[in-house]
Amino acid sequence: MSVIETRELRKTYGRIQALKGVSLRVEKGQIYGLLGQNGAGKTTLIKILLGITQLTDGDARLLDAPAGNTAVRARVGYLPEDHQFPGYHSAYSLMDFYGQLYGVSRGDRRQKIPATLELVGIAGRMHSKIKTYSKGMKQRLGIAQALLHDPDVIFLDEPTDGVDPVGRKEIRALMATLKDRGHTIFLNSHLLGEVELICDRVAILQRGELVREGTIAELTAQKGVFELGLAPSQAFPEHEAKALGYPVRALNPTATLWEVGLTDGQTIDPLVRMLVEKGLSLRHLVEKKVTLEDVFMSVVEGAEPGTDRRERKATAVGGSDR
Ligand SMILES: Nc1ncnc2c1ncn2[C@@H]1O[C@H](COP(=O)(O)OP(=O)(O)OP(=O)(O)O)[C@@H](O)[C@H]1O
Ligand SMILES: [Mg+2]
Repeated sequence: MSVIETRELRKTYGRIQALKGVSLRVEKGQIYGLLGQNGAGKTTLIKILLGITQLTDGDARLLDAPAGNTAVRARVGYLPEDHQFPGYHSAYSLMDFYGQLYGVSRGDRRQKIPATLELVGIAGRMHSKIKTYSKGMKQRLGIAQALLHDPDVIFLDEPTDGVDPVGRKEIRALMATLKDRGHTIFLNSHLLGEVELICDRVAILQRGELVREGTIAELTAQKGVFELGLAPSQAFPEHEAKALGYPVRALNPTATLWEVGLTDGQTIDPLVRMLVEKGLSLRHLVEKKVTLEDVFMSVVEGAEPGTDRRERKATAVGGSDR
């Protein structure tokens, strides 16, 4: 049984097609990241799963029940984007209020509220009014609110928005702990470096369509692109390299740095041997790593990952309908 499953999920708001047939699956204990530019449909998808918004067509299931099922809601925690908690509450009184809504008993609330606020690092200020909190503190409170009733699935819409780097690291550690305890986390984020560190799988939404899905390792799989440089004053034998079947191009105007691609089944070794046999001296050879950001940019700009960012932009301008 998948914790979350959507099939050909569609949502239209009047003439806007927010989701155009999205199918994805999240298994128990995963940290799943949903990525996409502003307006891609990320929040819409979360809201459908939670039953806040109705789907237009297709299927959405959460914890083996149709999205919006009220019995399931008690097993779900949610940090909405742009949440606004009433400033006259303190963290404690707000949590107490939510705890009652979630059906957490008085005794459990008394014990769990300080513990949960401790977990997110704001227990020291739990009796101060929310209006006196910094942005990051409010965000931590939002996360605490989503965890209070020990939900099986936690939806976090931009969990580290406004949180400083130390706090973000703490929140990542918290997510890892929750995962270890068997909770499933579904998060929306624009911070790709963070997503790459924490998520098991990610999906990229582009204008309502799911354009990539997989584990971080699958999405950032090495494309086999090397950066290579010879000793100063030595010319790179471009023609011989091409004759061996390597796509090569100079990375700078003085042609001291070269990018070498591998074609199917090829390794870099024959090229290195050829250079050595020609008496050339290799000074620099690194395999380029593709980051999640590279993958994301290539998807939204419409080019292959691993190619130069400026070149990709040029391609996108020429080849897109935006
Ligand atoms: N209540 C609504 N009424 C009309 N259109 C809406 C509504 N909610 C969302 N939309 C539209 O649906 C599309 C997807 O919006 P959504 O909020 O899901 O995007 P998002 O991926 O969460 O973006 P962001 O990164 O900015 O939070 C957008 O075009 C948005 O304008
Ligand atoms: Mg959103």
